Amino acid sequence: MKIISRGAEAILYDVGDKIKKERISKTYRLPQIDITLRKTRARKELNNMTRLAAIGVNVPHITQDGDFGLRIDKIKGITLQKLIKTNDQNLNVLFQMLGEQIKKIHDFDIIHGDLAPTNMVINNMQPFLIDFGLSYQSKSIEDKATDIVLFLKLLRSLHTNENLISAFFKGYLPNKLFLDKIEQIKKRARYL
Ligand SMILES: Nc1ncnc2c1ncn2[C@@H]1O[C@H](COP(=O)(O)OP(=O)(O)O)[C@@H](O)[C@H]1O
Ligand SMILES: [Mg+2]
Repeated sequence: MKIISRGAEAILYDVGDKIKKERISKTYRLPQIDITLRKTRARKELNNMTRLAAIGVNVPHITQDGDFGLRIDKIKGITLQKLIKTNDQNLNVLFQMLGEQIKKIHDFDIIHGDLAPTNMVINNMQPFLIDFGLSYQSKSIEDKATDIVLFLKLLRSLHTNENLISAFFKGYLPNKLFLDKIEQIKKRARYL
């Protein structure tokens, strides 16, 4: 099988119009912990993506494939990371849609846990969210704001235009409490 990506945690194979994601064993972990971690991350990814698909969030269809494996519909397109690097013009609508999608996830009390631009695939100017292995359920504003702070930090490191960040918030529609929380987390991170 052709390998699409080999990350720290998983290998992704090309299986026609689907992708097989297999979490690999890490020899530095105790075997029992290794097995548990790989299983729970695969299960979280499957469960949370299935629940989000049911409420209309843009996530690819996903099924289980063995204990550590997942089969995921392939989204034809490129990651937000690549898109920003090649062309960050005319992405305002896309960023607003991303804000709307992530808000929907948070309103459903799911935290993505790794909102990196490599975990967003853009097809036909529609954003799809992937890589839910670190996702979890939480109602906490702090957890939701932490999700956003990571995304903002990674966007800044790509020198993303500030207009796009404004467009993102136009979709997310944070209230004052949430914006204050974001600022508080950023400030805390600077002092660490
Ligand atoms: N469903 C998908 N459709 C298209 N590309 C995907 C899909 N899933 C993963 N990819 C590609 O593979 C890369 C790694 O997948 P990801 O699930 O993020 O694994 P990792 O845990 O290694 O980060 C992504 O950044 C993306 O480029
Ligand atoms: Mg990823």
